[in-house]
Amino acid sequence: METKIWDVRDYKNQLSDYPYINEIKDIFEQGGLIALPTETVYGLGADARNDEAVKKIFEAKGRPSDNPLIVHIYDINDLKAFTTGLTEDIKLLMKHFWPGPISFILPLKEGYLCKRVSGGLASIAVRMPSHPIGREILRYVDMPIAAPSANLSGRPSPTTFDHVFNDLAGRIDGIIHGDQSEEGLESTVLDCTQFPFRIARPGSITKTMIESIIPNSIATETTLNIEQPIAPGMKYKHYAPDTPIQIVEELNGDTPISNKDWSHTAFILPKSKRNIVPKTAIFIPLCETEDDIKGANHNLYPILHQIDEETTIENAYIYGFQINDSTTAIMNRMMKATNQSIIKGEQL
Ligand code: TXA
Ligand code: MG
Repeated sequence: METKIWDVRDYKNQLSDYPYINEIKDIFEQGGLIALPTETVYGLGADARNDEAVKKIFEAKGRPSDNPLIVHIYDINDLKAFTTGLTEDIKLLMKHFWPGPISFILPLKEGYLCKRVSGGLASIAVRMPSHPIGREILRYVDMPIAAPSANLSGRPSPTTFDHVFNDLAGRIDGIIHGDQSEEGLESTVLDCTQFPFRIARPGSITKTMIESIIPNSIATETTLNIEQPIAPGMKYKHYAPDTPIQIVEELNGDTPISNKDWSHTAFILPKSKRNIVPKTAIFIPLCETEDDIKGANHNLYPILHQIDEETTIENAYIYGFQINDSTTAIMNRMMKATNQSIIKGEQL
């Protein structure tokens, strides 16, 4: 299959002027698959009402059919057609955080979306992205778009056009070429089918941020526990590069890492830790300082792609942040990428 490429970077704020916007709309209407940028990661979109289209998403990604998709909407009113249970609390959270990087799981109202999109569950995940291009596409095509991350199942989520192209060219109808995704990690998934709510997947909208709007609204289980997944998708091996990679904890202070022959080994650390990396090793900056979580979120997936692409890198160590409200999401992704392989700095 030929995969069309639409470079819309010059039309970011005026997508309706883009000469091929109607071609994009037609392909969505005909049940095609189009990857599009969002602020979290690129998504692989299709008409969420069209069973054949949604079936093709699962096929193109090689995704297990029991792993439900997130439905992306332009306007809160769009939810009426296919969800129930929208309490005042949930509406308040939506008003506060949407458009933005959080998905809400709500009870599904049957009959509007195709069955396959919810993987046979009685609930449905919904999100209103804030990315100017993703948002304009939703407005223009005027339909709910089912969109998982636009990667092959088991590969890191794509945050650039190149990542999408490398995984899916030849398998989908087109890719909308935008800039690198601002956020870099997938949205927070908040299960609102019961109260207190549960974080099914941690993201940049944290427990503390949600509870600052609705106090005590989130059950107190640890969201890092990837052995007992709430979101069906959390049970599959995910985000993993082929290059062996381990988390290094307790890289405290300025004590240099032992000076053996580290050629072919990459150390992925904050720039502020550069001075402890031995000369023979390959240094990859994760972010500016140990407190720069936003930077680390933004860079993590591109780095996971990079260590596989650079043939000189045979193994890698990545900086383990201390777990707190704002590091839960990145540590959850790192735990998956490393298959929960953690060592302490002194063991190096
Ligand atoms: O940031 C994002 O959320 C991106 C962009 C494209 O919006 N999308 C994304 O989708 O990450 P995906 O399909 O890669 O991840 C969706 C996650 C999976 O872990 C899935 O199991 C969970 O959400 N999920 C979806 N619907 C669910 C439901 N009804 N109940 C529980 N978990 C659900
Ligand atoms: Mg995904």
